[in-house]
Amino acid sequence: MRIAHATDIHWFVPPKLLDLRSFKRTLGTANLYLRGRRHHFPEVVQARVVEFLRALSPDLVCLTGDLTSTALPAEFAKARAALEPLLSTIPTFIIPGNHDVYTVGAQREARVQAWFGDWMFLGEGGIGMADFGTTTVLGLDPNRPTRISASGVLPQGQLQALEAALRRPDLAERTVVLAIHYPLFDRMGRLYDNWEHGLQNVNDLVAILSAAPRRPDLILHGHEHRGYRSELQLADGVRIPVFNSGSSGYANPAKDRGAAVNLYRVEVGKPVEVERYLHGPDGFAPEPGGAYATGR
Ligand SMILES: [Fe+2]
Ligand SMILES: [Fe+2]
Repeated sequence: MRIAHATDIHWFVPPKLLDLRSFKRTLGTANLYLRGRRHHFPEVVQARVVEFLRALSPDLVCLTGDLTSTALPAEFAKARAALEPLLSTIPTFIIPGNHDVYTVGAQREARVQAWFGDWMFLGEGGIGMADFGTTTVLGLDPNRPTRISASGVLPQGQLQALEAALRRPDLAERTVVLAIHYPLFDRMGRLYDNWEHGLQNVNDLVAILSAAPRRPDLILHGHEHRGYRSELQLADGVRIPVFNSGSSGYANPAKDRGAAVNLYRVEVGKPVEVERYLHGPDGFAPEPGGAYATGR
């Protein structure tokens, strides 16, 4: 099976004055404007990534969160309209990112579920779970509105549901993909539990994966906009590859950074193969030297 992975596209709509009642959104918007980040997610690249994902024609697309910038209804509408050509033609699995529950209002109104619930496959304990051909995808949601930080916490209910899901006997004959917006490790391989941006109980997740009768074959995430791969090494010698494609909507030519998309080839019982595509002047093209060879 071929699984395409895109993340952190961050569709953006300028907030109206009334939207700035939220302290967090005012902070986020100021950040976007003052640091010029708003220009680093050009609409032309966002449109091209959708086109490219369609052109790849994978068996499954996995989107690992941060579809929006500050979780405004107008941003969800824009993201949904932009993704429609993909969602209506290719099986897609979506998990939210912290920017999709940016404010208390966005969480209270469950906006991400309202706009993308059909592709989140939420079940017991609030985790996503869906079968696509010979692959089962599990999706976690540690996102929550915070006042200042961008950290996440996996609720106990989700950890328990994950534990139960990994006991499904038929998973022995399937490929298992775990999707979570937050990294398990930073690009240096250190646990990603920092106060500012981290997954605060990443250790609880690692403990569940360590004890599980069936470990995921690969873990997909986003959140850090520069892509990298890492590896979860368990005490019994099992090594699980962990991939961040890197933001699929980001472009900053001054820093030689472009949007990225990953494509995984998975076959039950075989190691995962990865290809990475970077956006340049001529659209998306395979990363020179192979996945992650350029360090971009
Ligand atoms: Fe992001
Ligand atoms: Fe994020």
